[in-house]
Amino acid sequence: MKNFRGYKQSKMPESDKTISQTDPGTSCGEYLRRYWHPVALTSQVSTTPLQIRILGEDLVIFKTTKNKIGLVHKNCPHRRASLVYGKCEKRGIRCCYHGWLFSPDGEILETPGEDSNSKQAAKLRKTFKLGSYPVIEFKGLVFAYMGPEKCLPEFPHYDAFDTPEITRRPYRIEYNCNWIQVLDAIMDPVHTSFLHGQSSGIQFSKGFTEIGELEFFERGIQYLGCNTRRVDDYVWIRVNELILPNFTQAGSAFAADGTKTRYFGRSSFTRWVVPVDDEHCIALAWGNFGKRGDPLEYNTKEGCERIEAGEVMDRTWEEKQKKPGDAEAVEGMGSISAHRGEHLMPTDYGVMIYRRRIRKLTKDLEKGKEPPQPQQRKGDIIKTNGQDTILRIPKRNIDDRNFIKSVGSTVMKLQFDAEKMSLKERDNHIISKLSNMEKSGAF
Ligand code: FES
Ligand SMILES: [Fe+2]
Repeated sequence: MKNFRGYKQSKMPESDKTISQTDPGTSCGEYLRRYWHPVALTSQVSTTPLQIRILGEDLVIFKTTKNKIGLVHKNCPHRRASLVYGKCEKRGIRCCYHGWLFSPDGEILETPGEDSNSKQAAKLRKTFKLGSYPVIEFKGLVFAYMGPEKCLPEFPHYDAFDTPEITRRPYRIEYNCNWIQVLDAIMDPVHTSFLHGQSSGIQFSKGFTEIGELEFFERGIQYLGCNTRRVDDYVWIRVNELILPNFTQAGSAFAADGTKTRYFGRSSFTRWVVPVDDEHCIALAWGNFGKRGDPLEYNTKEGCERIEAGEVMDRTWEEKQKKPGDAEAVEGMGSISAHRGEHLMPTDYGVMIYRRRIRKLTKDLEKGKEPPQPQQRKGDIIKTNGQDTILRIPKRNIDDRNFIKSVGSTVMKLQFDAEKMSLKERDNHIISKLSNMEKSGAF
């Protein structure tokens, strides 16, 4: 008997801790704590406190009766009762155990069980605070900054916040695995052809089954995977996007199938992948519906789940096994993937380069160099590139693979060259250029 490798390879390879560990004090955890992250849907936050876990920290998020949102450490600093049992009042949250009252920013406002003349209690109220984090409620998502106060960055303004003719539906999807596994999928345009086109039948449209020509771009902390496919007489350019550390967009899931002209259609989702702890993460996002996004009929809970993961989340084991979606693909790797056991190939280039960059940025931060923010200057608007363009360019008597790849590169250049323009100008410019180029046979 020869060549059975089971025994030899039976030891589970290690995970890459430098990118997968995000608890307080870890390198990657520190790195992630330099950015604003969505932590909850606005609709989840009320005067009934909610316990959440983000970056390995147990937190309680609540609203005062005056509508102010607080995000605080879960345990009361008196004797550690959970503030999830607290009562929300005008000025803050009151611990159930001995009635201490905390403001949304963690100030100890009252210690009612102690003598009102107690110097010790007065001193504590003055000098100590419950751990809290700044929050911003924005279009149905609550964002928090969990890093050092002196490094507080601008709340980044992405152009996707303002795309006209888009209805944004906030959604939240839980994954039972490490955040890197979920993030990887955005830099892996090939998986759509297999997972979403072949393994599980057609989850989006037939056009996705074509593998296409890949081109990856690394532009500062923006990573793009451009996949250009031939679908009969059409060339379909689809761009997946990651802006470090965890902002993601892609083309549309259902609006584009490669069979109809589309100029610079925008992403199905504007989404952040946020670690809950090392073995869980959440995608917090807006599903983007309307003329520039996916059809309004998908603006349902199930629609968002299908756009996010290829399939609805709540299915039987039999259904999941028969038609796996992204959740099955990424959770099946185990709660933290054994990265050292991977064999990365040229199609994994996007995955390789962004992970490498995160490793480098975490190392730099360990040495005291703060990581770059997506927004360079106050007032800037970050131009994003996730999109779908479909052009009618019938096959000619030339090498079509090279040709369509060059069409993809031309479209990307057009997008990049227009980044200095305002959102509206840029959209109009790209759309009219694409239409003119297509019609005039410029490709
Ligand atoms: S444990 Fe919260 S007031 Fe005592
Ligand atoms: Fe996917």
